[in-house]
Order: sequence, then structure tokens, then C-alpha cells
Amino acid sequence: MRRPSCGYWLIHFLDAGCYCGIEPHTARLKMGLETILEQDIRQAKRPRFDANATFDASVFGERFDFFLAYSIWTHASKPQIRMMLDAFLRCSTDDAVFLATFLPASWRFQDYVEDAWRGTSHESSVPGCIRHRLSWIKAECALRELLVSPLGRDTSHDQYWLEIRRRATAPARKRRYPYWLRRLVDLRS
Ligand SMILES: C[S@@+](CC[C@H](N)C(=O)[O-])C[C@H]1O[C@@H](n2cnc3c(N)ncnc32)[C@H](O)[C@@H]1O
Repeated sequence: MRRPSCGYWLIHFLDAGCYCGIEPHTARLKMGLETILEQDIRQAKRPRFDANATFDASVFGERFDFFLAYSIWTHASKPQIRMMLDAFLRCSTDDAVFLATFLPASWRFQDYVEDAWRGTSHESSVPGCIRHRLSWIKAECALRELLVSPLGRDTSHDQYWLEIRRRATAPARKRRYPYWLRRLVDLRS
């Protein structure tokens, strides 16, 4: 069996009702809930899910302290990343953290300029991965008064983790994440 994603572990570690996830591919979500997540954990932790394809976290009626997007920006177009940043601003607490992975574009790897999701989804079974320039991500964040800090790469797929926070509440010095969080998001040490 594939190693479960960190959403699986977060459902275990968080208090009941505190994990919310967005997945428009309902068959994929059903498979995960029925064959990967233990039924007693599902009942005890009551994770909530929504199938909207616009990254609209407001459907949960909460203000979140963490947003997590592992291997989402490696498929999402620039308009979709903008939607996620706007959702973060609307639906998170003032000191919230958005952790997202991406793959950087460079002279070797093209920057993705199309408007659609690339890769498997509720609408496509064609695999694919795309890249964005870090300077573009930083500029979109700056427009929203958000600060971006690169954290390092993950060990499974060599994606680059970014930490995004509101500029007004970001700590003055870069913090090193505690060991458990580095393990959870699979950061190279
Ligand atoms: C590479 S997988 C993410 C992997 C997962 N985070 C993990 O750690 O294993 C990308 C997922 O995004 C989903 N997806 C596709 N379009 C989406 C959209 N518009 N909004 C949210 N998720 C979407 C796909 O169905 C797929 O399950």
C-alpha cells in the first residue's frame, strides 16, 4: 500500500471535527475514506469534506489556523493558485499558516501559463505535473500582503515546501519547525 498522505495523519492527531478537506474527485475520496482511513477513527474524528472545484474553504463555516496543499500547486494553474490564496485570506485566522508545495520553473523547466488544472482530477485521467516561478508566487502573495518562506524539499517527491503567512503577523525571524511537523510534511532534514 502507498504511504498515506499527511491528511491521514492529521485526521488522527487533530481533535474531532478539526480536519476539513476539499476533493472534487468523489470516487477517490470515497476510496480513501472506505479503504485507508480506519472506520473507528472516522467516527471518532469526524473529518469533513467538500467536493467543490474552486478551493472554496468557506463551505465549512470555519476560520482555519492551517491550510495545507501537498502536490496541489504542482497541478493547479495560476488562476487556481490565486483562488487558493484568496480562500486563505477569507477563511483563516490572522496568524494562520498556509503550507504548500510546488515545483519551480526555470530556464530548464517551463513556467505553466494555461488556465486549466494539469493532471488527474474529477475531470481528467491524464497524469501531468506543472511548474511555477517562485518569483510569480511571491508577487501574488505580496499583492495580498502575504509573506513566503521556502522551507526545503520533501523526501518523497522532491517538491519544495513553502510557508505563507500574513505579513502583519509573521514572526520577525524565520522559525525552524518542530521535529514532528517536519516529519509530518516529510521535509528533508
Ligand atoms: C496529486 S493529488 C494530491 C495528493 C495529496 N495531497 C497527497 O498528499 O497525497 C491532487 C489531488 O487534487 C485533486 N483536485 C483536482 N482538481 C482539484 C480542484 N479543482 N480542487 C481541489 N482538488 C482538486 C485531484 O482529484 C487529486 O486528488
